[in-house]
Amino acid sequence: MNKNDKRFKEQIASVLDTDPQRIHLYWKGRVALFAMLKAAGIKAGDEVIIPGFTCVVVPNAIIYSGAIPVYTDIQRKSLNPSFEDIRGAVTQKTRVIVLQNTFGLSSDLELITEWAAANGVLTIEDCTHGFGGKYKGRPNGTFCDAAFFSTQWNKPFSTGIGGFSAVFNTKLQESLTEVAKSLILPGWYDDAMLRGLIMSRKYLLTPATYYTLRSFYRLLSKLNLTIGSSSGDELRDPLMPVSYFKAMGKTQVNAGIHEIATLDMVLSLRKKNAAIYTHVLAEHGKYHVSPDLHQNHSFLKYPVLVTNKKKFEDCARRERVDLGDWFVSPLHPVEKDFEKWHLSVENVPVSAYIANHVLNIPTDTTHPERVVALLEKNLDLLL
Ligand SMILES: Cc1ncc(COP(=O)(O)O)c(C=O)c1O
Repeated sequence: MNKNDKRFKEQIASVLDTDPQRIHLYWKGRVALFAMLKAAGIKAGDEVIIPGFTCVVVPNAIIYSGAIPVYTDIQRKSLNPSFEDIRGAVTQKTRVIVLQNTFGLSSDLELITEWAAANGVLTIEDCTHGFGGKYKGRPNGTFCDAAFFSTQWNKPFSTGIGGFSAVFNTKLQESLTEVAKSLILPGWYDDAMLRGLIMSRKYLLTPATYYTLRSFYRLLSKLNLTIGSSSGDELRDPLMPVSYFKAMGKTQVNAGIHEIATLDMVLSLRKKNAAIYTHVLAEHGKYHVSPDLHQNHSFLKYPVLVTNKKKFEDCARRERVDLGDWFVSPLHPVEKDFEKWHLSVENVPVSAYIANHVLNIPTDTTHPERVVALLEKNLDLLL
């Protein structure tokens, strides 16, 4: 194994308190999910349960594997399905349950994993938002048979785009090691383009340019003119793009080795800011993350609910507060033709409601007072 890959895996494994051999590296987090479904021997007609409040690339990976995604609605408080929601979705065909860490929050993990283990159903944690946080004292991503993580732009630490998996189920680990042998390496174009994007982000992204650059980058991605979080094809149809099954390349690994070293510092900033926001929102009787859920969560995003997203965003733009817009729909960022992904929005009413009203205030800012001022100025818009 390449020296840098080895070092990066060791760094990841030390955060997860596990063996580096359990870690595999990929071009994106979604590829990790697909690889694990393949390794689990998922076949046509199998069902995989996922939250009805997720990113479209999750059902994409499931559909590419031949299986059918089955959606469960979420709870308003935890932004995740409850144990009962998931039990209600299980059928004879259920092979896997994907448990998502949403914005840093997990829910009912111990109940669900215990039930699944007793019933021969595999559990995979979608920990793309949660690396570095903890759930009930254990590192996020270590509760299930396996977990996948993302190192895309806005994640706990970034390699531009990227992802990795950690597998704790011995049988799955053995077959994943086989499956991973067919990952292809990124080419020189991918590598050079990604290096350019990482440099541009470093030198061009400021509070003054945030909204313009974000729109521009999303447009280029949609038109397949740059390496994006998602290509236009992935958002149009659940058909696997060419060269999807890619490993992590050397630019990503080098960025990862450097960036993961900042994780503790960023996490403590996120938690400190989240505590400030919780206090302010609770004091005004507004929707907030309940302290009983979040002692050790990583708060990649802090969700607020607003009556009018556009008005709140316009004000944030003027005040130079970088808002996130996850998730714009139950299948972010897709906003129509949900049936292509087997989703009936009527079956996930809470997810649809939250998607219509949620915005994310930044937790990695060194200016939380600006965010608090934005909240206090817009109390009438906050739910
Ligand atoms: C909940 C969720 N799952 C999976 C992913 C996919 O991660 P990646 O972009 O690394 O493939 C994302 C991306 O943001 C996500 O939000």
